[in-house]
Amino acid sequence: MANRQKTIYCCTDCGYETANWAGKCPSCGAWNTLSEVRLDREGSGKTGARIRAASAPKRLEELELTEEIRFSTGISEFDRVLGGGAVVGSLVLVGGAPGIGKSTLLLQMCASAGNGKRVLYVTGEESKRQLKLRANRLGVTGGEIFVLAETDLDSILASIDSLKPDIVIVDSIQTMSDSGVASAPGSITQVRECTMRIMRLTKEKGLTVFVVGHINKEGSIAGPKVLEHMVDCVLYFEGERSTSFRILRAAKNRFGSTNEIGVFEMADHGLRCVENPSEMLLSGRPENCPGTCVACVIEGTRPILAEVQALVTPSAYNAARRSNGVDYNRAAMLLAVLEKRGGLSVSGCDSYINVIGGLTLEEPAADLATALSIASSYLDRPLGADLAAIGEIGLSGEIRSVSALNQRLSEIARLGFRRCVVPAHGREEAKRFDGLTLIPVRSVGEAIAAVLARD
Ligand code: TYD
Ligand code: MG
Repeated sequence: MANRQKTIYCCTDCGYETANWAGKCPSCGAWNTLSEVRLDREGSGKTGARIRAASAPKRLEELELTEEIRFSTGISEFDRVLGGGAVVGSLVLVGGAPGIGKSTLLLQMCASAGNGKRVLYVTGEESKRQLKLRANRLGVTGGEIFVLAETDLDSILASIDSLKPDIVIVDSIQTMSDSGVASAPGSITQVRECTMRIMRLTKEKGLTVFVVGHINKEGSIAGPKVLEHMVDCVLYFEGERSTSFRILRAAKNRFGSTNEIGVFEMADHGLRCVENPSEMLLSGRPENCPGTCVACVIEGTRPILAEVQALVTPSAYNAARRSNGVDYNRAAMLLAVLEKRGGLSVSGCDSYINVIGGLTLEEPAADLATALSIASSYLDRPLGADLAAIGEIGLSGEIRSVSALNQRLSEIARLGFRRCVVPAHGREEAKRFDGLTLIPVRSVGEAIAAVLARD
């Protein structure tokens, strides 16, 4: 009975666990994603003594509060997403598509976190030589950076034991294998088991560990999703491979907010922090061109301006809509409102919507800018490069007020915009910003008339 094997099934898409196999995941609804996981090790099952020692209940008052100790990674945007620096004794999972820049970010951090900290970079993907070449290219140097090209977990844990590093980087979890587990590296069982053991060591020794996890759409290897519930912090590195923009987003953070994003640019010598994302996102905007408008969204504590482009062309078929960076359903709703309340017959057209720089506009405050950019393309009249728009659009075409209006307006004014369309409702709150004229509107129709009317 002591070491009985237990099998559970785990969804490769969402990490849902169940005792029985099913064709469709009961949690996320994906088909054929439940994969077998064997809990056959002493450590993963709920076996006796170890658990008993740690799990005696204690009064909340009696618990000692060991202050979480943070240190800077030396990369400002990385610190921002972590909630003000990395926490000692935490395990951070850095997920992202292959080639997005995870290894680059963490290698750069090895040097910048420095400050007498001893770093162990464990790579299961590259040889030491390749890593050295990359480090040279990135200008990463430092006497306390150690490299281990190894995939066997026991050897890695032994190295950590003898080297006693402060920071450990495991690149990537999918290449690691625990010889006590029968499954292949990258399988859910391996990935979970390895993470669990690394997690235990992290807490025991008070390390700061960064684990890389590749996202794989086909689900042939276990992705970071199945690990989300185990680790302290989950960061996703996103961006389009074709552009140099990269966004680091927190999906889970036990030590901070998950609203902040970090913005980077991939350059010749690695990743560069972008402290003023708006300036970069707006660079190279076409002037006097129909179908473009600037929106302002709040990402965490920062207002960010982004250009929304639209192309509306007559179509022989029913309305086909393609949107990139704006939720498909939201785009469909805006098109319907423009048709019914804005007097534009966009239903006979193909509409393409794109947000420049690979940014995703999730906030409804970007509705008005999206709608105006569609209207501008449909009418083939430019809005002018000095115009921005803020406002949520309701189903009856009304423009609703947004939060943090002044914070948005101040960023718009700072970047030299001269006109901004704002919701008439709630306009009283707006402060005056030098050189910025507000255009208050109540409805989509009013907004179109105010900025797109033929003179
Ligand atoms: P990498 O960090 O290896 O990605 P991951 O670990 O997420 O798989 O990043 C690889 C990409 O980054 C590769 O396409 C080349 C590009 N890159 C640069 O543009 N500049 C650089 O200085 C480096 C090191 C990589
Ligand atoms: Mg890599």
